[in-house]
Amino acid sequence: MNFLNANIGSAKDNSKSAIHNWYKFTAGFSYHFVEGIIKHERLKTVDESKIFDPFAGCGTTLVSSQKAGISAVGNEGQEFMYDVIRAKLNWKIKEKEVEYYLKFIKDYVAENHDRFDSEAEAHSLLRSLYERESLTILYLIRNSLSKISAYKYRWFFKLALSQTLHKVSIHPIAVPYIARNKTLSGTTKAWESFENISRKMLNDTKEYQKNRRTSEIHLHDSRVKNNKISDGECSTCITSPPYLNNLDYGEVSKVHTHFFEYTSNWNDITQKVRRKLVTGATTHYSEAEFDLEKFKQSDFYLCNTDLANSLIATTNKIKSISKERAGKKSFDILTLLYFRDMFQVLKEIRRAVKPKGKTYLILGDSAPYGVYIPTTEVLGMISNKAGFSNYEIHRIRSRGTKWKSLRFRHAIELAENVLVLK
Ligand SMILES: C[S@@+](CC[C@H](N)C(=O)[O-])C[C@H]1O[C@@H](n2cnc3c(N)ncnc32)[C@H](O)[C@@H]1O
Repeated sequence: MNFLNANIGSAKDNSKSAIHNWYKFTAGFSYHFVEGIIKHERLKTVDESKIFDPFAGCGTTLVSSQKAGISAVGNEGQEFMYDVIRAKLNWKIKEKEVEYYLKFIKDYVAENHDRFDSEAEAHSLLRSLYERESLTILYLIRNSLSKISAYKYRWFFKLALSQTLHKVSIHPIAVPYIARNKTLSGTTKAWESFENISRKMLNDTKEYQKNRRTSEIHLHDSRVKNNKISDGECSTCITSPPYLNNLDYGEVSKVHTHFFEYTSNWNDITQKVRRKLVTGATTHYSEAEFDLEKFKQSDFYLCNTDLANSLIATTNKIKSISKERAGKKSFDILTLLYFRDMFQVLKEIRRAVKPKGKTYLILGDSAPYGVYIPTTEVLGMISNKAGFSNYEIHRIRSRGTKWKSLRFRHAIELAENVLVLK
């Protein structure tokens, strides 16, 4: 399996690949990972091949499957990312229609320009990130999209607008969070950028007009059964779960979710975004609500009691270190909730994938407050109680080395791995 190399852990390659590069996503992996598995498993030639991705993200697995003409189905818990994926799977786009709608949107913006009051109508977060004129154009484009009744074109332009938000902001908006200490050139104009992105997307679809629609996406939390996917419907699972590294997807996407009005404040981000995802950051829960006795009634604890008890012992170490740290982050609770949630997802993968089908996960190990957690190995071990019979770990690269110089940074070399469950 020589496709399991260092490059597949990063989404760098995707920026040069048509459709994969329609949305800039912080937490992606290379499409070569998916292509490698398709080839290795000979999925194209096997009847009824169907790939499952329970953490669809920006849709790398689903887009690669559709390019290869293989069926695939995914779940994504964030509504904004679900909209991104829907647009990325939609390739029957006509030039005439795109040009018609671009003119329609341009006229709408011109007609409403002088009436738009960004102070009153734009979210304060957005006001702090865009020049006034750009903001007016961005909001007016957004408002015009609700007048487009053909959904596939509405989604198409919504994705182009999502990408425009990255292009014209004063500060980078997702690295993975807003980087106010960096300032962008500001020379890109909102309308020109939107128009260019839309035409580039249109151009990308030309090569794929004849491809059948083979991938579908559900807005769904993979910790619970998705009734739209039947037992054993899929032949292979290819995915990358959230890592146990405190990345807050709700915060990563907040410029977009505030702009498109899925959310308008931190409470919304918790209720409407974080709560629908695997617990991957300390912002997902309230520490006061965590109850160890209740945790001990979870399926994860009951099915993996010895391992869970040793994790509790490890998290006690993390808890005592956290008392000495300024942030006092509850990485102890995070670790327990992460594995509790991932156990649920492993069971759902086991249900959706045929008994002989393989599951490939890209994921990284962790060291909250310098306490090493062999995340990949733990998931391999608990997969047994989720119904898998064995697992292999393929190390692909070291990770986290760019933070080495930080004062409290641990010296543990972390690995990024591919976990194969059988
Ligand atoms: C590491 S990213 C996946 C990267 C992705 N495979 C790609 O390259 O585009 C994890 C994704 O899983 C989603 N997610 C987290 N928990 C989820 C859950 N319980 N159900 C569905 N999606 C979830 C997050 O919103 C995020 O988009």
